[in-house]
Amino acid sequence: MVPEVYLDNSATTRVRPEVVQAMVVVMRENYGNPSSSYRRGQAAEQAVKKARCQVAHVFRAEPKEIYFTSGGTESNNWALLGAARARSRRGKHLVTTQVEHPSVLEVFRSLEEQGFTVTYLPVDEYGIIDKEALAASLTPETILVSTMYVNNEVGSIMPLADIARLLKHKAPQALWHVDAVQGFAKLPLFPHDLGIDLVSLSGHKIQGPKGIGALFIRQGLQIPPLILGGGQEKGLRSGTENVPGIVGLGLAAALLWEEREQAAAHMATMKRRLRERVLAEIPDAHANGPQDDTGAPHILSLSFPGVKGEVLLHALEDKGILVSTGSACSSHRAANSHVLTAMKLPPALVEGALRFSLSPDNTLEEIDYTVDCLQEIVPELRRIMALNR
Ligand SMILES: Cc1ncc(COP(=O)(O)O)c(C=O)c1O
Repeated sequence: MVPEVYLDNSATTRVRPEVVQAMVVVMRENYGNPSSSYRRGQAAEQAVKKARCQVAHVFRAEPKEIYFTSGGTESNNWALLGAARARSRRGKHLVTTQVEHPSVLEVFRSLEEQGFTVTYLPVDEYGIIDKEALAASLTPETILVSTMYVNNEVGSIMPLADIARLLKHKAPQALWHVDAVQGFAKLPLFPHDLGIDLVSLSGHKIQGPKGIGALFIRQGLQIPPLILGGGQEKGLRSGTENVPGIVGLGLAAALLWEEREQAAAHMATMKRRLRERVLAEIPDAHANGPQDDTGAPHILSLSFPGVKGEVLLHALEDKGILVSTGSACSSHRAANSHVLTAMKLPPALVEGALRFSLSPDNTLEEIDYTVDCLQEIVPELRRIMALNR
């Protein structure tokens, strides 16, 4: 059997053994409902409290600013719908970027249908927000700005400190949401230092479980709940807490945050090797997004013109290598990447793009094996595609 080389860690990650272990303990022994007043319930409540502290610590925030949700998608929906509703009397203008995840873009589309006006900011060829366009878009009517931290397809890191300065000057009235799903616990992000009001994160991108996430809501900010019911999470997110998920998320965040520097250095070394070998050894290959080491250490988008990304993906799968075409983390949609399109890449680069995304568990041997396979497969696929043209 071919060994598996998992290079799709921005789609999701394998849960770390320590996290699995902690979750099993919760499910087997600590199974009370945190709302129950007997001891087993209180123990579960304590476990949730600990996880809240672990997540808050990564943000240098207060535990009471962390609300658990079912994942990044819910956090984004809640933040944006809640903020728009909370501020709708003050204005109707919203700002975001063209390269957000669908869980942000689709919410803005729905807000447009509800009468809001949305500016979708362009990005440069590296996938980084156009700051001049941002400055030009802000008006006294702007009530909400949403910008991601790390782009999930190309690994560009948005210049949050510059955005913070612009917002402070030109739209101090606007709420600011950051989708930090791809950067949380991997790269530093301290919302209070930057004046960010709302931050979304997700468990399954950090070697934690799926179906759990959180929303940071700056203390003092009031946004209405999305989910109504029994009043959990201080009445803002009803539903019995997903205690195993919450415990898993808290521990995964704490472990990754503790190891972030070694993890980032190791992933950056692998990413550099992958990029340099591919560019040197595969004719016409192209690296998309930030060119040197300025992007996130765990995401690399590469294009192989003359080959369809989807076809290459399956050829790599036959060799045990799992990657994605970039936009697939949300669905099986075959549409071309809206991110690469917004970066104005030529169609051949958009069609031939693959995203390689790393975890600290990957090795340089896996990277070398991947490049060796690409060297064998890409020319062969190009020959076949040329014949079929
Ligand atoms: C940038 C970004 N935001 C949001 C999400 C959605 O998170 P979740 O899968 O936890 O709903 C993802 C991943 O799919 C993502 O990459």
